[in-house]
Order: sequence, then structure tokens, then C-alpha cells
Amino acid sequence: MNTQPIGIFDSGVGGTSIWKAIYAVLQNESTIYLADSANAPYGNKTEKEIIALCVKNTEYLLSKNCKIIVVACNTATTNAIAYLRSKYSVPFIGIEPAIKPAALQTKTHAIGILATQGTLSSALFSSASKRFASHIKVIEQVGKGIVPLIEGGGLHSNKMRILLKTLLQPMLNNNIDYLVLGCTHYPYLIPMLLELLPSRVNIIDSGHAVAKQTKLILETHGLLNLSTNTPTRVFYTNGNKDVLQSLLGKPFNVDFLDF
Ligand code: DGL
Repeated sequence: MNTQPIGIFDSGVGGTSIWKAIYAVLQNESTIYLADSANAPYGNKTEKEIIALCVKNTEYLLSKNCKIIVVACNTATTNAIAYLRSKYSVPFIGIEPAIKPAALQTKTHAIGILATQGTLSSALFSSASKRFASHIKVIEQVGKGIVPLIEGGGLHSNKMRILLKTLLQPMLNNNIDYLVLGCTHYPYLIPMLLELLPSRVNIIDSGHAVAKQTKLILETHGLLNLSTNTPTRVFYTNGNKDVLQSLLGKPFNVDFLDF
């Protein structure tokens, strides 16, 4: 049982930012990563559509014997994780915008949240925002166009730089000192964001927190892989293999799979 893989899925390549954090803290675990790039972006789909895609991804990972599922996508988590937990008995780990630490630490009393439409309009996000940030200004910005650009290989493009400048401006006009990255594709933008943002702005990304939580859940369920077998790392995409490969930064093999 414990040698079974951890299943991880995202609407596309962005969840590899979570996979990397998990790989760093759980070196002994086998993983299967699914990039549902053929259906990206999830961010402008309805809750019903997002749930159906998450069920499809989960069913595939369960058919591969995964012991736990990491929903490495804010949009999928905020729209579908309650449904997934009610339907399946395996543990699910999700990710949602880290509004709480930003709201606790801001000195300018203004924070920015960059996320998809699907995340910002979800009930889970609005309840977290009310709970933790009602005393400060929260500048919400839909990252419209970012995910398709990354999926199309335009991470480092000038088009991305121009898009980010436009998206960040309302936040800067409101004097934010924390920027919360509410989409797992966005950590790949950090080098460009650091160039575009004034040094007072701190960037919060929750990848490491998700990895720590995954470790904790494996420990508490007695699911850690304690064997000495060499773990396997499998990557599937129903989109562009090269884009996924380029983000992994290590020569892991990526397979095309029509799931
Ligand atoms: N990585 C997904 C997220 O964290 C991207 C959503 C999308 O496909 O629009 O929300």
C-alpha cells in the first residue's frame, strides 16, 4: 500500500510547481502527474464543468492505484475539492490562495490576489477573504490570459511582461505590500514579477505549505513509503509535451496520454 504513488493533477503544466515542492520534501515517494492541458484553462469554466474534469482526472489517478490525490490547482480546489472528498475515500490535498498570511503581515493594509476568475468567484475564496481579510483592502485581479500564454510556451515572452504590467497596475495604485499568487502556474512568473514589482512587495506562494501538508497527511494515515524501492516519477499530458518538459528542469520523461 505505502509504495503506491501520490497522484497529482492540474489543468495543465502549472501544478508542476507543486510537484517540485513535493519532490523536495518527499524524495522516497513515487508520483504520477497529470496535466490536463487539452482542457486548460479551467479558470473560465463553470463549477459544474470543473467538477466533471476533476472527476475524470481523479478516476484516472485512482485507476493507477494512487494512495492520495493532490489537487495542484487553486481553481479545481476551490470549486471541486468538497465534491471529490464526498465521492472518494482517498485523502485529497488542495491548494487555495494564501490570503491569511498576507492579511496578517501587511503593513500598508492592502494586499493583491492574482488568481483565475473561477477561484476568485468561488464560495471557498470569498469565505476565506471575509474571514481573514475584512479589515484590509484586498485588490483582486483575474490573471486573464496568463495560463494560456504559459501553456503555449510563452512564459518568458515580451507579451507576458506587458500583460503582467497591466494586471499589476491596479494593485500598485493601491499600495499593496503583499502579492498572493492564487494559481499554481504563477510561481513560474516570480523572476519576471520581481523585476516588475517594487521591492516593498512580498510575493506569497503556497507550494511549500502544500508539500508539508501532503507529508503530514501521509504520516497520519500511515501511508509514507518506507520501502527501499527506487521511486518512480511519471508525467502525463494530453497537451504539449515540450512545454511540460521545459518546466520540469530535469530530464524526467513526459508521455502524451489522451485521458
Ligand atoms: N493552475 C491552475 C490554478 O491553480 C490554473 C487554472 C486554469 O487552468 O485556469 O488555478
